[in-house]
Amino acid sequence: MACTVDCVDTLDEFIAALRGKAYNLVLADYYLPGFNAKDAWNAARMLPHCPPFVLLSGAIGEAAAVEAIRQGIADYLLKDDIARLPHVLSRALEVHEARRAKEQAMQELARSERQLAELTEHLQQSIEQERAMIAREIHDDIGGSLTSVKFDVSWIARNATDPALKSHALAGLEMLQHALGASQRIMMNLRPPVLDQGLVAAVQWLAENFERRTGVPTQVQCSRERMDVAADVQVVAYRTAQEALTNISKYAQATAVHIDLSDAEGFLTLEVRDNGCGIASAMRDKPKAFGLRGLAERARTVDGWLDISSQVGKGTSIIVSIPLGH
Ligand SMILES: Nc1ncnc2c1ncn2[C@@H]1O[C@H](COP(=O)(O)OP(=O)(O)O)[C@@H](O)[C@H]1O
Ligand SMILES: [Mg+2]
Repeated sequence: MACTVDCVDTLDEFIAALRGKAYNLVLADYYLPGFNAKDAWNAARMLPHCPPFVLLSGAIGEAAAVEAIRQGIADYLLKDDIARLPHVLSRALEVHEARRAKEQAMQELARSERQLAELTEHLQQSIEQERAMIAREIHDDIGGSLTSVKFDVSWIARNATDPALKSHALAGLEMLQHALGASQRIMMNLRPPVLDQGLVAAVQWLAENFERRTGVPTQVQCSRERMDVAADVQVVAYRTAQEALTNISKYAQATAVHIDLSDAEGFLTLEVRDNGCGIASAMRDKPKAFGLRGLAERARTVDGWLDISSQVGKGTSIIVSIPLGH
């Protein structure tokens, strides 16, 4: 092995050398005048890029060697075995390099996970904002125009003497009512009414609507009439209930649904449970299904988590838990 060796024999010189230059490896004798390898290692391990540390000793005894390895030194070698030195050194270098590469990969992974989480949060916020904007436009533009047309047409219906005109006006009124109802419904779906009436009322509204649409009896149980929960947490809980109910209407073939909402013990928990067909295990990791995965990500944005439990033939339970101190 071609090596360049710097030799030091005091602890201060040792530390100064390690600080001053990037070394590939430290080769240390055990007993030195004034300090020993343990002192050297304890100083070296504090440095940001500590090189692998190999002990080369006359006689330190097995117990001390084992202890040294336990403390994190790379390897040790008896002076009688000096012929093995190149082998021991290259192994220490390899292990060190592998560890460094692994640490770097872990850091990169953590960074990319952090970025992904930030992106998710950002996307979800933009989606909510976009939805709120569309809802506002429907309300102000379409809703406003429909309402004023309704006034005019109902005036015509009231004042028309020609029976044909009257009946056309009445038919028009009925269609207008339908369109108003539709725009109301679209608005409610776009913008969670939670923000206006509180989470409990909003979840109850979702449940009633679901029951009316699907005919599946849906019970809501709440630990309280009103819950004092931060707006972002409310939106997460509301969207969870919404997606869980949508999934039930699409896939579960359930005959009963229970929703539990509680703010006990410092957590907001929302459970949506059905007695339907359950999620087949093959369906869980369906590549293009982002509903449940999106909910898990959403929960994470407010430090919460999603639990999915399901038994084929017995039903599914989706629970979101969010710490209230958030
Ligand atoms: N309540 C449920 N009962 C039965 N199957 C369900 C239920 N919820 C979800 N699934 C299954 O899990 C899959 C993943 O759901 P989801 O992530 O919401 O994606 P998507 O609704 O877009 O398919 C669904 O395709 C469905 O097969
Ligand atoms: Mg879905």
